[in-house]
Amino acid sequence: MFQINENYPKLPGSYLFSEIGRRVNAFQKEHPEQEIIRLGIGDVTRPLMPSVVRAMHAAVDEMSRAETFRGYAPEQGYEFLRTRIARHDFASRGCDISPDEIFVSDGAKCDVSNIQEIFSTDCRIAVGDPVYPVYVDANVMAGRAGEYDPDTLRWSRVIYLPCTEENGFVPELPEETPDLIYLCSPNNPTGTAMNRQELQKWVDYANREHAVILFDAAYEAYIHENNIPHSIFECPGAKTCAIEIRSFSKTAGFTGVRLGYTVVPRELVTAGGQALHPLWIRRQSTRFNGVSYIQQQAGAAVYTEEGQREVEESIAYYMENAKRIREGLQAAGFTASGGVNAPYIWLKTPGGLSSWQFFDQLLEQYGLVGTPGAGFGACGEGYFRLTAFGSHENTDRAMERLRRGTFG
Ligand code: MLT
Repeated sequence: MFQINENYPKLPGSYLFSEIGRRVNAFQKEHPEQEIIRLGIGDVTRPLMPSVVRAMHAAVDEMSRAETFRGYAPEQGYEFLRTRIARHDFASRGCDISPDEIFVSDGAKCDVSNIQEIFSTDCRIAVGDPVYPVYVDANVMAGRAGEYDPDTLRWSRVIYLPCTEENGFVPELPEETPDLIYLCSPNNPTGTAMNRQELQKWVDYANREHAVILFDAAYEAYIHENNIPHSIFECPGAKTCAIEIRSFSKTAGFTGVRLGYTVVPRELVTAGGQALHPLWIRRQSTRFNGVSYIQQQAGAAVYTEEGQREVEESIAYYMENAKRIREGLQAAGFTASGGVNAPYIWLKTPGGLSSWQFFDQLLEQYGLVGTPGAGFGACGEGYFRLTAFGSHENTDRAMERLRRGTFG
């Protein structure tokens, strides 16, 4: 008689972005005349960059010839991509990361949720609050989160690091000591980025407590200020306490192509001397069959001169939206932060509305979709996230709708 994984029924009914999609589709079905502007899920809207398209076509051509056909990709990814990543993303910033510490994958979401598998289910996790829900859900599935309290929106075994207006949305060191610490900078959802000193504090803490930082750097390409590290490995000591997860999705518009990577340094070992790097190889080679040659050639094209120019243009386009959103919100009387080193803007809901009430009002009265802060955790209540990933036109129209709005 089969039984299910007893942890799964503990999960909230639906994943945040599926729930939003469901509500928006239901509303659209009832009001087909309403034109909806979507600034909810952080999905890119610009077409693939020309250098990427060319590289993909060329890779398909190679795959179609017997002499250059390729089957399974190497387990950690092709050398041509990993050497470019090591050189461009790390060596250029003074980080000593070798290609064999890089594991190419089909995206940060899978890596950031799978990486916990190599740790004991007894480990206590710490997460920012608000938090990208995938970190918590993956640990719920693994049986590491304890029990859920729907009144407080919290799991009993999870250590929450409140990110509030008072601390500038930057997590502070916890009183209870965690084993695994999820940090995301620039942050999803608050759009705040940790500066060098703030991140170094966490690296020193993790080394002292023998904890591991799982550093989600999916939005590093949006960093504009100098004192914000792009990689945790810019902080001395990080190689003995951190794993970094990166994505091509937001950097190069690959949400529909799928490509990311994870860095597991060789120096990262448990107190008992067990290295994590071979464990992650073992896990990946058993449970993951690599990313296609076509996707990896597309990724390599991002590191060419032309690719880098196109990435810059694309980031500048989205960050212009971020500026328009920040200014538009200010003009409409909202309190907002983020959007300087990140494509997310985090605003306070008006008129004492809960974040889901504001979501409903925006959708039903103004045809505008964002993400309710409560979907990211208790400290997200009373907040709302907008993304800069729309077009300029839609961003301006969204701001106009907010300016005209009366809420409460
Ligand atoms: C988001 O909207 O938070 C992102 O799209 C999540 C993701 O990248 O999976």
